Amino acid sequence: MSPKLEKFVDPLPRMEVLKPNKKTKDGAHYEITMRQFRSKLHRDLPATTLWGYNGQFPGPIIEANRDEPVHVTWLNQLPDRHLLPVDLSIHGLEQLPAVRTVVHLHGIETKPESDGHPEAWYTRNFQETGPFFSRETYTYPNYQRGSLLWYHDHAMGITRLNVYAGLAGMYILRDKQEKSLNLPAGDYEIPLMIADRSFQADGSLFYPSQPADAAANLPNPSVLPAFNGDTILVNGKAWPFLEVEPRKYRFRILNASNTRSYQLQLDSHLLFQQIGSDGGLLRNTVKMERISLQPAERVDLIIDFSKAAGQSIVLKNEIGTNEDTGNMMQFRVTKPLKNKDRSLLPSALSVIPSLKQNKISAIRYLKLVGTADEFDRPLLLLNNKHWHDPVTENPRLGATEIWALTNTTNFSHPIHIHLIQFQVLDHQPFDLEQYNIDGKIVYTGPPKAPPANHRGWKDTIEVPAANITRVIAKFAPYSGEFVWHCHILEHEDYDMMRPYVVVDDDEKDEKQS
Ligand code: C2O
Ligand code: CU
Ligand code: CU
Repeated sequence: MSPKLEKFVDPLPRMEVLKPNKKTKDGAHYEITMRQFRSKLHRDLPATTLWGYNGQFPGPIIEANRDEPVHVTWLNQLPDRHLLPVDLSIHGLEQLPAVRTVVHLHGIETKPESDGHPEAWYTRNFQETGPFFSRETYTYPNYQRGSLLWYHDHAMGITRLNVYAGLAGMYILRDKQEKSLNLPAGDYEIPLMIADRSFQADGSLFYPSQPADAAANLPNPSVLPAFNGDTILVNGKAWPFLEVEPRKYRFRILNASNTRSYQLQLDSHLLFQQIGSDGGLLRNTVKMERISLQPAERVDLIIDFSKAAGQSIVLKNEIGTNEDTGNMMQFRVTKPLKNKDRSLLPSALSVIPSLKQNKISAIRYLKLVGTADEFDRPLLLLNNKHWHDPVTENPRLGATEIWALTNTTNFSHPIHIHLIQFQVLDHQPFDLEQYNIDGKIVYTGPPKAPPANHRGWKDTIEVPAANITRVIAKFAPYSGEFVWHCHILEHEDYDMMRPYVVVDDDEKDEKQS
């Protein structure tokens, strides 16, 4: 258990917005270096050794405008030894260097060479590289709507450890549509990265080297089926506070935790006005009393503090199991109003064409499956396939498909697909007991439409236990090999991740002729 820490004693840190190293006619160029560093994550906690982009946790914010490409050279200057216990028994990791990194920009539409394929890893100064490595500089075209994206490590088999060590940051893509709405901006638009961690008394990160009830024959270190930290960090501080003016604020919230999901709620009469999801603005503003946030999901929301002057309001996690994990941060409406609040909270936000109008090229039934490995550890799979099995999902470039994600385990999985944003069609419950007996899907209710705040663009969606969640997507604009996976990082690493290939028919013809 982490040292007991007093809540709401540190101010919320503001993440630095990075300036490009240079700007050319083909876009903005950045160099970002992964480094080991030390940082105080709470007033009373000794400094913690972390890994971070540019030596920061969270990493610096990259801000981009739609249609203006960004190029990033992601440099690795990390030590040769891992900060955390690496299980070498999975994915043949004992053959590979211990410290490997590769960066994925979550939510971006980019070519496979810039997507951060898990086997495109590299070590310090690119000394060693994985089989999919092809370039040192990644290009993000930004030909897509404004939204909050985030970059994080994606190295095969150790993503959970690299991200836990601190390798995560935000990327804000802006567009004209959003600017025209006159939402709260500047000092009144605040990104919040939520992540849980556990600590030793000396301030170092704690990540178990084995599950609590480990059998004697287990590898040591061994992967865990899940990991929940007992301390909630927001922008890299434990339970911070933020002083605000009595006016509207816009919060861009990301759950960057390994396993933990949250249910956001305010301990006052105030509501959230949700305006956006993973893939940008919703059609309409949605009033929300509580908001569920699975790993990797983002929400964009407005809180109006104008009638709360003098109050202290706590952002709660309704599904936290105690005083610690049930609290996230505190707002203090103590600042005087600087200027009249002229920002707006429009009810109509953006236009989202329904993909259901497209011709559907395929419906894929994809099962989320739980089995056990040779040590009798839980082994979670997609469609009973391992990461290293040959590709089975291969949509044609430009095709619209429905993926029916069928969860045969007894807990939720946040499923994420690279390259595209999808729309959620529905969730339909089935009888899991029956399925476990004879493998038949017997529905126990009608398909349920997604809640209003999930009716925009999404790239990560909770697939509840004993449910089929159907999503629809158009696989474009790039062909090649991408991945899809559960975003519980302990699951992604072992072994709930699969490659998929977007097939360009023209390219295939050329190769054959
Ligand atoms: Cu946020 Cu494949 O990742
Ligand atoms: Cu992604
Ligand atoms: Cu999972």
